Amino acid sequence: MHVPCPIRINGILIMDLLRFSTAGSVDDGKSTLIGRMLYDSKGIFEDQLEAVTNASKQRLSTGIDLSLLTDGLRAEREQGITIDVAYRYFATPRRKFIIADTPGHEQYTRNMATGASTADLAIILIDARKGVLEQSRRHSVISAMLGIPRICVAVNKMDLVDWSQDVFDKIRHDYLELAAKLGLADPRFIPLSALLGDNVVTRSEHSAWYDGPTLIDYLETVEIPKERSADKFRFPVQYVIRPDLHFRGFAGQITSGSVKPGDEIEIVPSGKRAIVKQLHFFDRDLAEASFPKSLTITLDREVDVSRGDVLVRSEAAPQLGRDFEAQVVWMDERPLALTRPYYLKQGSRTVRARIQRVLHRTEIKTLSEIPASNLGLNDIGRLRITAAHPILLDPYSTFRGTGAFILIDPETNATVAAGMIASDQPKVSPDVVWSASEVTRTARESRQGHRGAVVWFTGLSGSGKSTIAKALEKRLFHDHRQVYLLDGDNLRHGLCHDLGFSSEGRTENLRRAAETAKIMVDAGMIVLATFISPTLADRQMVQKILGDRDFLEVHVSTPLSECEARDPKGLYARARKGEIAEFTGVSAPWEAPTAPSLTLPAHEWPVAQSVQSLLKLLEAKSVFLEIQDPPGGGI
Ligand code: ADX
Repeated sequence: MHVPCPIRINGILIMDLLRFSTAGSVDDGKSTLIGRMLYDSKGIFEDQLEAVTNASKQRLSTGIDLSLLTDGLRAEREQGITIDVAYRYFATPRRKFIIADTPGHEQYTRNMATGASTADLAIILIDARKGVLEQSRRHSVISAMLGIPRICVAVNKMDLVDWSQDVFDKIRHDYLELAAKLGLADPRFIPLSALLGDNVVTRSEHSAWYDGPTLIDYLETVEIPKERSADKFRFPVQYVIRPDLHFRGFAGQITSGSVKPGDEIEIVPSGKRAIVKQLHFFDRDLAEASFPKSLTITLDREVDVSRGDVLVRSEAAPQLGRDFEAQVVWMDERPLALTRPYYLKQGSRTVRARIQRVLHRTEIKTLSEIPASNLGLNDIGRLRITAAHPILLDPYSTFRGTGAFILIDPETNATVAAGMIASDQPKVSPDVVWSASEVTRTARESRQGHRGAVVWFTGLSGSGKSTIAKALEKRLFHDHRQVYLLDGDNLRHGLCHDLGFSSEGRTENLRRAAETAKIMVDAGMIVLATFISPTLADRQMVQKILGDRDFLEVHVSTPLSECEARDPKGLYARARKGEIAEFTGVSAPWEAPTAPSLTLPAHEWPVAQSVQSLLKLLEAKSVFLEIQDPPGGGI
């Protein structure tokens, strides 16, 4: 294949090669769209076209069925005729393209397995008649996780909605909401008809209201910034090449960063060092090479390097470890099993690994992280994994090659998950291992008829947090709920007696409170936590510890003047006299929540009214599990 030559525009490196993937639900017209692009841009080979025309004649009375172009490729791959048909190459006069053309999630697995070939852009196909479906959301979540720099939303089958601008605008609006939550920057929306060809390669006459580019125009011109920082150099060795005694080179692909002769490198995991002598690319020597180049590297001295080792820049050597947390996409019909060993493949190295714990699963509908003990097909979640040997703990957000891995089922040899090493690893010693109880949270919850959750009351001192929480505790206890009031003042008598009211003291106080509440939730309790918790950042930390689903933030919004007038403990008066330092609202900051689950104006409402609102909140958040009718009829 032709080797793309990089060009620079405004200091950004642009390759004249664009790798993109396509994602759509069944029947969105993905195959037809790819076929249309290849056909209209004349990017397909004559012999393939002929074969497709013949096949189309058998299937259709007129015209040509473009989906056969890609379906044909798929059949070819299934028969194992060619090895590289997971990718489809085509070119226009302005750019060359590689399409990761594989069904479902396989494309992500393949891209990650090969490490460096992650897409520059993802086309998310949406059927204009159906709008943003769960599948579109799932593909977008995965694209965001993979850090694909650009997203293009192809709104297909516009002909079937009479080219309605309203339909297009609605999809655009819905998708932008999702994109904002996922941090997907600047998605591009194109109304098109893959079947008829409108706005794919040629402009449509039907969309006068649309003044953006056609799909191919966009793909030809979209700018993809390329990162080539030398610091990030990673080179997993695929082969040791030793044709004769005089030559010893290491072949592989640069998965991030760049390298040049004279650079000092370290060999991972041995830690030995050497200087790069030469960079060979076929019969040429290179002055420099960067991601995603495949090449052979020679070193200035004889050092032990074998397949699976990684060459890195010695000043930026990775952290190695066996225990880590990662985001994964589960891709196997067989759900994850904590009891089974897996193989973990990172770059060209494979080690045995065990999944210690499922930390959470991402619910696609709400994008919230919910507690889970398992992951099934297509689920996205976060795991704690222990590998049998140390691996590179490169965070995926910085190292898209070595930060990625796949999990393989040793029994079936199938790739069961694609994983990304998290950038925020917990500071847990590798010598402590999580021990899962055999009585699960779900089992406890279903026996008691409600789930565990934390109602987190935040508000000024004297705002009425404890008064309301005590009344709610009594009510829930009366209703046979497992409930406990975790009170800020009380915790400071024991667990937190060593902490003061500086911002560090409060942060640690709230961290301990949240961790305590988390254990209680795992035990199936409804926890009523009353803490001033005066800053946004601290409450965010609490939310992160507890997870979105279990954290219900309630703002007791009695204004400062009212709290001070009440002054139940006489603390405001003393704070004003300067006898208490860093008193919230007086000499220390108070930041009200921006989007609490509930606000209780305790200065205006009787306590019973607040309790009613809280019961409604618990109901709305499905804390009380539905009572099933007994089999054989009602009560
Ligand atoms: S937090 O800021 O860390 O969330 P927490 O809720 O645990 O505070 O404790 C607040 C209680 O400690 C108040 O109700 C009050 O009785 C007492 N207190 C003592 N000193 C202070 C202070 N400087 N600021 C706020 N509350 C204080």
